[in-house]
Amino acid sequence: MPFSSGREFAWKSASQIKMLQPLALLSAGLALAYAQSSPQCNAATNGSTFDGTVGSEQQYNATTVRSIKAADAVQGVAVDKDYFYSIDNFSITKHNKTTGESLLQWFGGKGGPIIHLDGGVVIDGIIYCPHSNYPQTPITSSVEMWNATTLEHIESHPFGIYRGSLTWIDQDANGTFWGTFANYDRVQHGQTQPYGLTINTQLVQFGPDWSVTRSWIFPDALWGSFSPMSNSGGSFGPDGWLYITGHDDPAVYVLKVPSAGDIVVWVATISVPDIGGQGIAWDRSEGRNGSLYGISRASTEVVEMKAPLQDCEWNTPTVVGAVYGPGSFLDPEA
Ligand SMILES: *[C@@H]1O[C@H](CO)[C@@H](O)[C@H](O)[C@H]1NC(C)=O
Ligand SMILES: *[C@@H]1O[C@H](CO)[C@@H](O)[C@H](O)[C@H]1NC(C)=O
Ligand SMILES: *[C@@H]1O[C@H](CO)[C@@H](O)[C@H](O)[C@H]1NC(C)=O
Ligand SMILES: *[C@@H]1O[C@H](CO)[C@@H](O)[C@H](O)[C@H]1NC(C)=O
Ligand SMILES: *[C@@H]1O[C@H](CO)[C@@H](O)[C@H](O)[C@H]1NC(C)=O
Ligand SMILES: *[C@@H]1O[C@H](CO)[C@@H](O)[C@H](O)[C@H]1NC(C)=O
Ligand SMILES: *[C@@H]1O[C@H](CO)[C@@H](O)[C@H](O)[C@H]1NC(C)=O
Repeated sequence: MPFSSGREFAWKSASQIKMLQPLALLSAGLALAYAQSSPQCNAATNGSTFDGTVGSEQQYNATTVRSIKAADAVQGVAVDKDYFYSIDNFSITKHNKTTGESLLQWFGGKGGPIIHLDGGVVIDGIIYCPHSNYPQTPITSSVEMWNATTLEHIESHPFGIYRGSLTWIDQDANGTFWGTFANYDRVQHGQTQPYGLTINTQLVQFGPDWSVTRSWIFPDALWGSFSPMSNSGGSFGPDGWLYITGHDDPAVYVLKVPSAGDIVVWVATISVPDIGGQGIAWDRSEGRNGSLYGISRASTEVVEMKAPLQDCEWNTPTVVGAVYGPGSFLDPEA
């Protein structure tokens, strides 16, 4: 079956509900459950166009505002009110956000405990970075933290061998951390097996103490487009929606968490011509005016973009089935 069961179910149900509305009016006492009873969201933004094929999701374009040369713009970028931070495997440079001027650098160097940073996010003066030992085996991950003012390393949360390589983390509007543990179809140097298989890549929601409380996988078409690499960046927009990237394509994907099942809903793709996947960070310090930051590994630049936002809540429930009364039961085997 080409579709995930969760997505197909939501699809069928939405069309069935439309057909059933007149029946509901006629049948007093017939219990019909609607996941949403009033319009809450532009249909274009709630996943209703994705039918399992690449390109069926909503399509948008971002525009580049500026590109700033930054030696560390290789893995990702973080941004706060006054600064942005370019991030490489084991180095972080803090820049004046207005001028791009390099102000401070943290440098771990080869052979230190920091092996492969993938990006970062600044929250209350702390830069939180997803870290892994990519491409070593066995795969390990940690969250590493720096003081954003001084760029001193201050804390670490090691996961050890767990779910894959942590490639991004961010906090949603409620202050809950999310992230992705990535796995790869690529066979790393000196290995004979793929590095975890891309299909095993998981979006996770963290609870207190970085314990994982919920997790999802990606639609076939989406992880297929990441392969042999994986989901590389992720950031919550000022609209509350989750935006992610692959490792290479000039695209940002808009996701929502499903109301049922464990496969995320691919809502939209934003074309971002001047970056090729990798770490991204929304500048949420300017509300809905904020830019999306990314990096160009090819030109070692930080790229500031304007990207369209969604106009509804990112957790708008997806319709999950309906209840049918006697006389209107459906044949489950049809
Ligand atoms: C995005 O840009 C492409 C190429 O310029 C264009 O064909 C397309 O219509 C644009 N899409 C939107 C939604 O503006
Ligand atoms: C960034 O640089 C500009 C120009 O030198 C300066 O006016 C501004 O105060 C700097 N920003 C910060 C946060 O230091
Ligand atoms: C950073 O990590 C990537 C992937 O492991 C590797 O290809 C690259 O050479 C590393 N860069 C440095 C400066 O070590
Ligand atoms: C960062 O360092 C400054 C200067 O030492 C200190 O005042 C501040 O509390 C530190 N912040 C964090 C989050 O550690
Ligand atoms: C934030 O919390 C509110 C209240 O508990 C909940 O309704 C909402 O779904 C949460 N938002 C997210 C993004 O989890
Ligand atoms: C966004 O920009 C508009 C126009 O410049 C301004 O009026 C508004 O206050 C800004 N909003 C935020 C949240 O900064
Ligand atoms: C998308 O949202 C619209 C408007 O609320 C709703 O009519 C439609 O059923 C939703 N589609 C899905 C698949 O959730």
